[in-house]
Amino acid sequence: MANVLASEDNIRIAILGGGGMGKTSTALHILHHSAVKARYGEVRYFVGCDSVTSGGALALLILQIIRHKIAPDENSSDVLCRALSSYPCILLLLDNFETVWNSESNRTDIRELLSKIVSLPKVSLIITARGDTPPSGVKWTRVDCLPPLSPESAKELFLHYGETGEYEDDHTLMTLLKELDYIPLAIHLIAQACFGFSLRYMLTLWRDKRTALLRTRGEGPDKLENIKVSISISLSSLDSTNNHQAVQLLAILCLLPDGLLRWEDRLLYIGSEI
Ligand SMILES: Nc1ncnc2c1ncn2[C@@H]1O[C@H](COP(=O)(O)OP(=O)(O)OP(=O)(O)O)[C@@H](O)[C@H]1O
Ligand SMILES: [Mg+2]
Repeated sequence: MANVLASEDNIRIAILGGGGMGKTSTALHILHHSAVKARYGEVRYFVGCDSVTSGGALALLILQIIRHKIAPDENSSDVLCRALSSYPCILLLLDNFETVWNSESNRTDIRELLSKIVSLPKVSLIITARGDTPPSGVKWTRVDCLPPLSPESAKELFLHYGETGEYEDDHTLMTLLKELDYIPLAIHLIAQACFGFSLRYMLTLWRDKRTALLRTRGEGPDKLENIKVSISISLSSLDSTNNHQAVQLLAILCLLPDGLLRWEDRLLYIGSEI
């Protein structure tokens, strides 16, 4: 992806996947890649969309980050487009784009802003978003949905964040990592929870406490410190007050250890029964 960004202008990349799969980590890795630095120099900006709920607010946030002034009577999206056009080339990373995309009951203004931004020939864009579908209305150069880690990478990650020293019991470690579905955030958190305990004990504890175990010691309200916070962010995007059947359906699906077999055929049928 870094090479794609480094070779042409006006590249549009969407990095998708579930919570804690490594979207932000991957996007930051690309943002700081030497080839990308060589093309965009210092004109590479990280825009965290977590607290933004409209197209206008997003335009204002980007203007603030690129340090461009705006008068009170000006239209933020017009000013932003003028500001972005003045760069010989610029790279924007819109992290957690799903927040603004999902929060907008009328998506028109965010969709319009996004298409205006990508229509500027010198602007390249990376978005990260939870889910498996990129925002519509943009012709994406690349869409990557991050899969879970391979067992080897999961082990590497565990050893990186965990206690240094050899783990005597590779089989227990691999079982634990498999039960965590090789999800980076879960592995990061369990590696920290393992300090001072044997793997065998941690595996027993995991089977008993499940996600309650996946948080750093101390009550962090942060999604990177507590997997329940991370999961609740995805659940809240379902708008459960208006879609209570979705929550009911998820409550059933989460009991199935391997998910729903042949879900494309069966989900509509199950949904209609709820
Ligand atoms: N490839 C990787 N190698 C090492 N660590 C990783 C990797 N991917 C993710 N991590 C670790 O996993 C955790 C979650 O990663 P990250 O924040 O990038 O996930 P995310 O997909 O952006 O989550 P969210 O949907 O909540 O924004 C972080 O602690 C990060 O350090
Ligand atoms: Mg993220």
